[in-house]
Amino acid sequence: MQQTEKILVLDFGGQYDQLIARRVREQKVYAEIRAYDRITPDEIEKEGYRGIIFTGGPNSVYDPKSPHYDPRVLSLGIPILGICYGHQLIAYLAGGTIKPAAGGSEYGKTRITVEPCAIFDGIPGTSVSWMSHTDYVAGLPAGFRVLARTDNCPCAAMADEGRKIYGVQFHPEVTHTEYGTKMLRNFLFGVCGCRGEWVMDDFIERAVETYRRELDGKTVLCALSGGVDSSVAAALIHRAVGDRLTCVFVDHGLLRKNEGDGVENVFRRGFGMRFLRVNAEDRFLTKLAGVKEPEKKRKIIGEEFIRVFEDVRDEIGDPDVLVQGTIYPDVVESGKGDAATIKSHHNVGGLPSVMKFKGIVEPLRDLFKDEVREVGMKLGLPEALVRRQPFPGPGLAVRIIGEITKERADVLRDADAIFREELERAGVRPSQYFAVLTDTASVGVMGDARTYGHVVALRAVTTDDFMTADWTRIPYDVLEVASRRITNEVRGVNRVVYDITSKPPATVEWE
Ligand code: XMP
Repeated sequence: MQQTEKILVLDFGGQYDQLIARRVREQKVYAEIRAYDRITPDEIEKEGYRGIIFTGGPNSVYDPKSPHYDPRVLSLGIPILGICYGHQLIAYLAGGTIKPAAGGSEYGKTRITVEPCAIFDGIPGTSVSWMSHTDYVAGLPAGFRVLARTDNCPCAAMADEGRKIYGVQFHPEVTHTEYGTKMLRNFLFGVCGCRGEWVMDDFIERAVETYRRELDGKTVLCALSGGVDSSVAAALIHRAVGDRLTCVFVDHGLLRKNEGDGVENVFRRGFGMRFLRVNAEDRFLTKLAGVKEPEKKRKIIGEEFIRVFEDVRDEIGDPDVLVQGTIYPDVVESGKGDAATIKSHHNVGGLPSVMKFKGIVEPLRDLFKDEVREVGMKLGLPEALVRRQPFPGPGLAVRIIGEITKERADVLRDADAIFREELERAGVRPSQYFAVLTDTASVGVMGDARTYGHVVALRAVTTDDFMTADWTRIPYDVLEVASRRITNEVRGVNRVVYDITSKPPATVEWE
């Protein structure tokens, strides 16, 4: 979709590319990330960006493998802000010199002194900024002046104010930089002349208008998992095409307690959508009988999803278009090449090969997760659904260690529901929290009798991106209540343990 006012985040391999784009969007200015080797200065000009931010990156500009860019970018007349490596790259492209710092790397919170100028407008003469660099700008390019210094870095910021080109050695996008947000605002509004008009109401209005036109007369299908992304995508497209959208929700019998009914209530009753719930518990459990190996479980579930959709096709025919809940981080990540496969994450990516779609729409592909949530709330989805923690596609299958049976799934569902209820009651909101049914039995005592029952593990993690995660320090009292209730209320469980492993070395899920 065409945005009226947008900023380009030109990615040179920094770890903060998405953070920079999010920070810009928090200021209600649309930002998009492009890898430096995927866009030329001509394309930048054609796209009509209001400003460009060069990200950081791990390299040194003199390293032959380091990412460089066509120096014509400096003459487009578009304001530029270079951050860290981006700052050094600007100096290099403009004819300056870069050197390794004599005293080694400068890392962490550092006091900077700034000169009055557009990007430091309203910022005190000295403040704290976050540094992480080895090289520094030793020789200024012609036309630039120094705008900030630290004890070890004589050029912590510079600018060619005539061309509106700025560079900062520190990271304004991280919260450790005291006036980082103010600096970004100064760049966006003061230097680039942005107005800050990127609001979700407009996004919804424009998306509805676009899809009403694009999908005119077409039948549309959405494979709804009940997760945040597919739910918001469905609600948005429903607003555009109404009854020409059918949502198919496959209940594989490995959902959490009351989850299937909850999803059905929201979409069929609340939104009045054409909603097909396929109750396929028996099919899935039959296929999974006796299977213990995690990757095999995932594969079976993925394949069975496709079989279910083949049957759905017999029922509803081949819709023209498939709706997918792809979001911006998926788009950015998939452009970066594959990391090693630790777990084959199942999704509904197999669908298009089964059903013949003429097209796919991904209405959320420009949005970050928090923006997707905001759209969901504005579309009237219940908060509990919009703020939902992530839930894996294969569902409880990867939380039942060993063999999956209906009885074992029911034990886990009950224990999990209690744990979640107690955390929510206590107001503790980890990034993800759930119970796991282990394949260990343990001895216990109840009344005067010996028991031999299930061991349930509780898992809660705190994380921003799920690539790494810390185990959550849940108050002992809350763990105590959860443990007592699970052993009292869930038949067959006589022991509860809490998982205190971070990721790495563990993963979030047990399988
Ligand atoms: P791990 O266990 O890999 O989990 O640390 C990271 C995040 O991914 C979710 N996860 C999955 N999601 N299909 C999914 O759709 C899967 O097979 C799967 N396995 C893990 C997990 O819940 C966590 O949010």
